[in-house]
Formats: sequence, structure tokens, C-alpha cells
Amino acid sequence: MTDAATVASARDPLMGKWGALGQPVSRLDGPLKVAGAARFAAEVTLPGLAQAALLYSTIAKGRVARLDVTAAQQAPGVIAVLTHRNMPRMGRLPRLVVDPDGGAFSDLPVLQDERVHWNGQPIAVVVAETAEQAEHATTLIAVDYAPEPAATDFEALLDTAQPPPSILGRPAEVRVGGDAEAALASAPVRVDAIYRTPRHAHSAIELHGLTALWEGDRLTVHDSTQMLAQTKGTLASLFGLPRENVRVLSPYVGGGFGGKGLWNHTILCVAAARLTGRPVRLVLSREGVFRTVGARAASVQRVALGARQDGTLQALIHTGATAVVSHNAFPEQFSFPARVFYAADNILIGQTKVDLDMVTNCAVRAPGESIGTFALESAVDELAAELSIDPVELRRRIEPRVDPIDGRPFSSRNLLEAYRRGAEAFGWSRREPVPGRRKDGEWRLGMGVATATYPFYRRPGAARIRLHADGAAQVEVAAHEMGMGTATVQTQHAADRLGLPLDKVTFAYGDSDLPVSTVAGGSSQTASIAGAIIAAHRALVDELLRAAGNDSPLSGLTADQVECRDGGLWRRDGSGGETYQAILKRAGRDELSAEAEAPAAKELQDFSMHSYGAQFCEVRVSDITGEVRVNRWLGSFDVGRVLNPKTASSQLRGGIIMGIGMALSEEVLFDPRSGRVMNASLAEYHVPVHLDVPPIEVMWTDIPDPEAPLGLHGIGEIGITGCAAAIANAVYNATGRRVRDLPITLDKMIGG
Ligand code: MOS
Repeated sequence: MTDAATVASARDPLMGKWGALGQPVSRLDGPLKVAGAARFAAEVTLPGLAQAALLYSTIAKGRVARLDVTAAQQAPGVIAVLTHRNMPRMGRLPRLVVDPDGGAFSDLPVLQDERVHWNGQPIAVVVAETAEQAEHATTLIAVDYAPEPAATDFEALLDTAQPPPSILGRPAEVRVGGDAEAALASAPVRVDAIYRTPRHAHSAIELHGLTALWEGDRLTVHDSTQMLAQTKGTLASLFGLPRENVRVLSPYVGGGFGGKGLWNHTILCVAAARLTGRPVRLVLSREGVFRTVGARAASVQRVALGARQDGTLQALIHTGATAVVSHNAFPEQFSFPARVFYAADNILIGQTKVDLDMVTNCAVRAPGESIGTFALESAVDELAAELSIDPVELRRRIEPRVDPIDGRPFSSRNLLEAYRRGAEAFGWSRREPVPGRRKDGEWRLGMGVATATYPFYRRPGAARIRLHADGAAQVEVAAHEMGMGTATVQTQHAADRLGLPLDKVTFAYGDSDLPVSTVAGGSSQTASIAGAIIAAHRALVDELLRAAGNDSPLSGLTADQVECRDGGLWRRDGSGGETYQAILKRAGRDELSAEAEAPAAKELQDFSMHSYGAQFCEVRVSDITGEVRVNRWLGSFDVGRVLNPKTASSQLRGGIIMGIGMALSEEVLFDPRSGRVMNASLAEYHVPVHLDVPPIEVMWTDIPDPEAPLGLHGIGEIGITGCAAAIANAVYNATGRRVRDLPITLDKMIGG
């Protein structure tokens, strides 16, 4: 058994000896999905189901002066029209990043008055017999607005930027050493540049949607969410219900990437069901997702590096601002990578924000780290060029020994090992150091590299394990499966933990009635659930020993003296034991179960815990059109012990594909006059398609982090980090042109 105080311990038998873990097990939910048998939130059928559609504001700020719904109400199939006049009264939402029990990425009240806060805000809901009737009736609503001046132009308002109270609980500004600006000014070699990143949309394949059913004062919501407990808690408080009266079901999620939380449409659908007395389904159109669901904040970042001739840093400065709204607390933590990457004598890191009247920003695909690494890792490449030092070698010279900000030890940091292995596998030594020299017809070729990183998080949560009389087990956690492999990997974990074959273990999840767990966010789910399963397993062993009784060979033993293997509990000294079946049978029990919470994540206080990686790519750039194509990719990661190489590869590869999109094509365009999203469709917001994606090789050090449960790190988000810089650096190597403004589109590659 493991140490009671922590979930990670050298004494955890699974730190060294795995069975199902480490195997490339295919996703257990795969066959259901490929066969079309998995029912997603908006596919749940209920008798009497009605459909809802939204009408969106067309001004950024002001009031609805006139709202005439008469024609809509009389349209075919229409059951009801909800506006601020008949919407149930409810308070402001809690802020998600502040209140762990609930909340949303915007704390504005939903449809409570005639105020308009952003262009695209829902101002009416139509409920009808069919989705088409509801959609049509929204077009019959007549609206007049009284517009007011709105803050919609990020660049124009940069001088109004203010520091937020904190960056996810960490100070907005940090300084190490002395005056970083003075150290920069006196440095022999300097890079000082501004980098820009636009707003990015999650673009999950599955649109946001839910089906809501009221039975008296009990509410059941079939939602597509990565935040079961928060959705349950928030709906309970908004609709004045005891928590136990709300059940949120979300067994399948067709992609989340930070965007599948609680938004206006969730609340409006539940309210519509309450007002009409019918079960109601609401599926946002793709346009509706762009108008009402948050996306990644745009940023303007400055990175300044002051170096000696040998590359060591006198000064590291990373500052800048993000485009956010006053009604949320999510800053887009682009300054986090600079807090862990490099040793420098003087460090200045700071983030500010500009509050705009626009659709809110929120967590998107490694928020912060993905855009922060673009600026920082582009600048390091610029410095390497200035110094004529290979960029991989430069990073070796400025690798820190301890956390550069607070001096804590790293729990596990093998970045240089990831670089060494990655460089060799990629053939980095074949890179031509002088830009623009490698040509192939109209194409110029270049290689680029950048560091990837993502923090390790482990959050509170519980798990329950049920052991049945037939010797099979069910693990129960209110977890989320958005296609990452969560259910599969935790089944592997529980099987090894219990000493059962994989097919004797099931993992129940996606239901808020199960033991409360964490959000599927911050790449924290796997470690959090693993910690809870370790705790629940420990409690289960105690239960088994109690149940075994005096006639058992286990009689009188403590948990430390037994181990779980071969479908039972056996004495560690090898002198016997019993199968689970035998224990339950003698005890006359059909089932034995135990539930426990993971202990608090003390490791996060004691250690600086992060994942790392080295992203290598080769690009080609057309001399004629300026088109950038990615030829090949290799990501070499240091992400602790990898539990399932198949699902891990897919996670890392998927992240890299998003990184290619971020580098070359993805950009939400606002009209700065109206604050309206101008490309609210996947026809005009360009994510990578198959032809944009080259062969992607991924590898990992597989070095366990001794402070993490099972030695693992989360891998959901690190894949995207570093990618945009690797591509920008490769573009520079190919052409000698440095693009500091994402995405790297053709117009930025041709002309002056
Ligand atoms: Mo992730 S952006 O925390 O889903």
C-alpha cells in the first residue's frame, strides 16, 4: 500500500510494475462511436421533445429598445418565445476560475434585462415543435436597439491595459534579480520584439448542445460538457434547487478543448424547458458557437532577451496584454512559460489586460502556454541567430537547475534529454544554419525547433470502487471522456491496481450522480482521477480485510501486509491469501464498495511541476506565392510515465495539428467598429485539414515523475505548445523572414 499522506510514492507497487498500463489499449468507447451507437447530448430522444433556437444581438453595447415577438409567436409550430420580459429571474453567475463549485467564463446575468453586453449576445429564445420552425421564427422577431459607444478595438485601447488581480492565483508581475530593463540595455547582444496572436476558436466537431428535462422540481440535463460538477452546481443555484435535484449526464463529448462548459444557451435551454413544461433541446449553430461561446484572448506580447556572447542571459523580459472582458476572470496566462523555461540574472514578467465589450474569452487548447511559447520561443530563436549559436545548444546553455522564479526544485525535468533524443531522431544536425540556402524548385526549405511546456495539475476529487461477487469490479467517477482516452486509461489503471484482467473492470463516468471529480481541463484529469482511485483502492483493501473475518488466511493482517494480484488479496510474504470472490462469498456479500477522496496535492507546493517537450519541424515556403507548408514533424516529450502509448500518441499528435492551425491559418476576425465576429463559420475560420498535416512522429522520455501518481503527467494540452514558434522559426530558417504576427498567412510572406 502507498504512503497515506500522498498518492505518489516509491512504495506504490504500480510505480515500477505494470500489466495493462503501458499497453497500447484501443479506446474502449471506440466501437460504440464508430458504430453510431453512442448517443451524444443532442441525440437523446424524449417524448414530447421541443426544440429551441436563439436570436443574437447585432450591436456590441446598449439596450434593446423595442422587441416585438408577435409574429414569431404566431409562426407555425411555435410554443413559446423567451425574452428578458418572461425569463425566470436569476442572479449573476459565479466566476468559474474563482468558484470551484460552479460558474461560467462570464458572470453576466442571462437574459435578465434589456442590456446588451456584446455583439452576438442572445436576446430571445424561440421554442417550437421542430428545430427548423424555431430557427425560422427567430427571423420574425423585430428588434430596435439603442446603441452606446463600445470598446471593441484591442490595438487602439492597448494604452488602457491594467494588470488583473492575479493570473490564476499567481502574481500578474514577477521580478527576479535587479533591474531587468537596465540589464537588457547593457547586454552585449539583445533581442527586443513585439509578437501578436489573434483570437482562436476551439472548433470542436460536436456543436454545443443539450437536452433538458424537468420532472417536478427535478432537473435532468443531457449536456456536452467537460465540467459536470460545475454545471450541476451552477444550475442548482440559478434555478433555486437543492444540488441533489440536478443531474447532468455527459457520457460522450465530441471535442471540448476548453469550450465545453456552461454558457448562455445551457441556462436558456433549461429555462425554456421550465417555462414550457416540455423537454427541450437546444443545439447551437456553428455561428451560434462563435457568437456566444468564449474563445482564446488575442494578445500583444513583448519579449526582450539580453545575452552575453556565450548565450547566458543577463535579462529576460516577457510582458504584454490580452484582450478580455470585464465580466470574467480568465487572463490567458501567456506569461507562464517564461516563469519556468530559462535561467537569467534579471527577470521581469508581467501581464496586463484590456477589457472589451465583446464575447468573452475562455480556456482554449493550452490557454496561455500555447501563445506564450510562440513569443518566447520565437525570441530565443532570434537570439540564437544573433549569437550564431545553434538554437538547441543555446537552450542547453540557459537551462535552469531550479525553478527560475521561486527556486523550488523541479519534481522531474528532462527537457534536455527530450531535446537530445528528438534532435537525433529528427536529423537536426542536417539543418542549414544560414537562412534561405536550401531550395527545391520554387520552394525554400527550413527547419525549426521550439520548447513545449504545460504545468502539472492535480485537483481534488473522489472515486468509488465496487467489487462484485463474481470477482469483477466497477470504478465510478464523475469523469469526462471527450475522446482523450480517460475511460480507457483509468480502466487499465484500476485493473492493475486490483490485480484483475482488463475485461473484469468497467469504468462508469459522465454522470454527475457519481463521486464528484474535477473538470476535464488543465490536463489534470488523469492525475486527479488516478489519485482518487489510489485512495479508494486503499479504502477498499481495508473493507476487504474487515470482510475477510477470522476464518480467512488474511485474518489479522493490515493493508501494508497484503497485495492485490491474480483477482484477490494475498499476503506479501507469499504465505497465502484469497480471491475477491472467496472473500465476498464467505462474508455473504453481493458487493463490497469503498469511496474516498484523493489527498490534497501537497506536491504542487513542494515542487515546480511541469511537462516539457521539443517540437521539431521542417517547412517549405513557395518563392512565388509565399505559401507555407509543413513537410514533417517530430515532437519529443518529457511527460512523465506514459500510461497508454496509443491514446497518448493521439493526444500529442492532435495537439500538434492544432498548433499547425494556430501557426498558419486560425484567426477569429472582429470588425473593430462593431465588435462582431466576421468569420463565424468553419468555411472562413480555417482549421487544418488532412492535406495541411504532414506525418507527425511523437516520442517521449517515459521517465516517471516520482511526485506524481503513477509517475504520470497530463498530456492533453502540451502538444499544441511550442508549435507556432517551431513553424515561425522554420520559416525564418527557410527564407530569412521573421513573422511575429500569427497566423503566418501568405500576405505576410510576400512583398516588403
Ligand atoms: Mo483545456 S483548454 O483546460 O480544456
